Amino acid sequence: MRVLVTGGAGFIGSHLVDVLRERGHEPVVFDLRKDPGADVRDPAAVERALAGVDAVCHQAAMVGLGNGVLDAAEYVSRNDLGTAVLLAAMAEARVRRLVMAGSMVVYGEGRYVCPRHGTVRPGPRAVGDLEAGRFEPACPECGQDLAPGLVGEEAPADPRNVYATTKLAQEHLAAAWARCTGGSAVSLRYHNVYGPRMPRDTPYAGVASFFRSSLARGDAPRVFEDGRQRRDFVHVRDVAAANVAALEAEAREGALTAYNTGSGDPHTVGEMARALATACGGPEPVVTGAYRLGDVRHITADSSRLRNELGWKPAVAFEEGMAEFARAGMREG
Ligand SMILES: NC(=O)c1ccc[n+]([C@@H]2O[C@H](COP(=O)([O-])OP(=O)(O)OC[C@H]3O[C@@H](n4cnc5c(N)ncnc54)[C@H](O)[C@@H]3O)[C@@H](O)[C@H]2O)c1
Ligand SMILES: [Zn+2]
Repeated sequence: MRVLVTGGAGFIGSHLVDVLRERGHEPVVFDLRKDPGADVRDPAAVERALAGVDAVCHQAAMVGLGNGVLDAAEYVSRNDLGTAVLLAAMAEARVRRLVMAGSMVVYGEGRYVCPRHGTVRPGPRAVGDLEAGRFEPACPECGQDLAPGLVGEEAPADPRNVYATTKLAQEHLAAAWARCTGGSAVSLRYHNVYGPRMPRDTPYAGVASFFRSSLARGDAPRVFEDGRQRRDFVHVRDVAAANVAALEAEAREGALTAYNTGSGDPHTVGEMARALATACGGPEPVVTGAYRLGDVRHITADSSRLRNELGWKPAVAFEEGMAEFARAGMREG
């Protein structure tokens, strides 16, 4: 298959290009980082790139939490305008297959179980609670402690920041494209992706990158809140393989299908910091009690749909992946 990989020079996209080649496909990289003319918001450039293409793997986006609402317009432009231009060009060129990089951020604050009220959805955490070190969201009905559970794809969307809002809008646009054209769209809702070539720390990077970058400087990783927030850290090569599995699967026409893409082995952020510090032989992590507004407490996926329907399974275990990541090269800027 000839596959246009938008964002193909990025962290995940570059691994995807490798896996596509290994599987005998022909990736075509379309990325601003590689070529200033390769902008998904430029209809003429996208039209040229789509020539002879069988499928599109859409990874290009502005990622991370960014600077609150200050760079909202840039997120919307790159992520949503970019996706709209790409989809319109695909409709023109009659390219019927799309796999896009979704994100677990569309779920907001995970899924929780109250002993009295069953599954509940706590709202955004209050500044007063965070200031007082009350990091766990309480039951919205009775205020009791909650147990975090695994989020399935049917969980209602609840984006909590600008980036999350743009990732959700990308899915809605792709679903509209699929309905209008009879095309097949898959959104892989990645959890926390880590691994070689992850960019160094910027306001746009992930938590594994912050810790790894601190350790590379000889500093202790600084862990927000109490370090007990849970995440699903999934290795970048596994994420790349999930994209290829989605491309090779039988197409479901006229609709978007979403798949959680996680390792299925949740860990706390504190555990991740310790695993990296140990593997680097660096200083022990420091738990700071600081917080970022817009962060969610726990978010862990149920990725069984991806395993069952696409036959994907993660190949890199947490300990092994973190040990490799501790020594792996990172991308500058
Ligand atoms: N890294 C994660 O943990 C994670 C988690 C969930 C979802 N995602 C999604 O995965 C995708 C890839 O993310 P990544 O971590 O590899 O980030 P990245 O920044 O390394 O890669 C994104 C690439 O997109 C390119 N790009 C940005 N705007 C563009 C535009 N207008 N036209 C063409 N190219 C453009 C950038 O140059 C960059 O190389 C994104 O869609 C992101 O939202 C990532
Ligand atoms: Zn309750």
